[in-house]
Amino acid sequence: LHEDQNELSQECRHLMSSLPRDKGWVVNHLFNYQGFWHTTRQLQGVLASQKLFQAQQTDLFLVTTPKSGTTWLKAMAFAILNRDRYPCNNDHHPLLYSNPHDLVPFLELKLYVDNNVPDFTNFVSPRLFSTHMPYISLPDSIKNSKCKIVYLCRNPRDTLISLWHFTNKLRPKTIGNISLEEAFEKFCKGVSLCGPFWDHVLEYWKQSLEMPERVLFVKYEEIKEEPKVHLNRLAKFLGYPFSVEEEKLGVVDEILNLCSFDSLSNLMVNRMGKLLTGEDNKAFFRKGEVGDSGNYLTPEMIQHLDVITENKFIGYGLEV
Ligand code: A3P
Repeated sequence: LHEDQNELSQECRHLMSSLPRDKGWVVNHLFNYQGFWHTTRQLQGVLASQKLFQAQQTDLFLVTTPKSGTTWLKAMAFAILNRDRYPCNNDHHPLLYSNPHDLVPFLELKLYVDNNVPDFTNFVSPRLFSTHMPYISLPDSIKNSKCKIVYLCRNPRDTLISLWHFTNKLRPKTIGNISLEEAFEKFCKGVSLCGPFWDHVLEYWKQSLEMPERVLFVKYEEIKEEPKVHLNRLAKFLGYPFSVEEEKLGVVDEILNLCSFDSLSNLMVNRMGKLLTGEDNKAFFRKGEVGDSGNYLTPEMIQHLDVITENKFIGYGLEV
């Protein structure tokens, strides 16, 4: 990831000098802005999005904390919205040739990154975007519009382990890996990309209770458990429900198959390709399972995470 400070705007540089900072997971520092931790590059993207992005009433947003299953959600939402234009049983489907991150762009990590001036002319309506921004940092034009938000949450144990693996892929060989103990400690303290993890989740959970027609809260584990139920729920919420005819024709299964971990991770584009922003596509596919954290975290670590989760979520009716 490029974290070159030369690319930062004057405004961002000025702001950063006044923000709390902590040692990052990759190389550079993380900065705390509006209660959440960002890399410099991401922070610049957040600021530019806040300043410049103009939401349309029909826009759709996919929101996650990093490593919660963003890639999967992007693939499913893209396939749902575009199924008339691109039937899933077609050999030319864009998901066969492009990584989901190149089809559904992040506001702060792609469209507004590095002072980029986005060109929206090729977007079809409804526009589909994604972001890791916490609710508090969303551009006002999103908060004040009717556009819909899908929030995908994953349990903190698996999210942490996924983030730890991902971080180690990004770290330069010369400095070696970040230890699990260090990653664990930082994650528990809240010092992780877009963390504190629990605050990020809770903000969107509250919004989904207050405005269920605008914010859909989905869990990675529940999609894994009942994929059909949740793909239907997602399609309905996005305003593109499956017809009885489509159900009969197997369209739901086709989308699930196309977007499955095995299918996406084995495509040439995802084995060999790179994102337009430079990351290896294969870094976004590791195991795609629920509970892999049990192979890494000690029982004490798991208990510690569970206590934090209980304390943070108590009284909100949220279980992860
Ligand atoms: P693991 O590291 O546990 O395997 P993100 O997309 O937010 O970066 O999250 C990445 C995580 O989602 C990784 O988890 C990755 O393997 C998993 N993932 C990617 N594609 C997936 C898919 N199609 N189905 C299920 N999980 C997927």
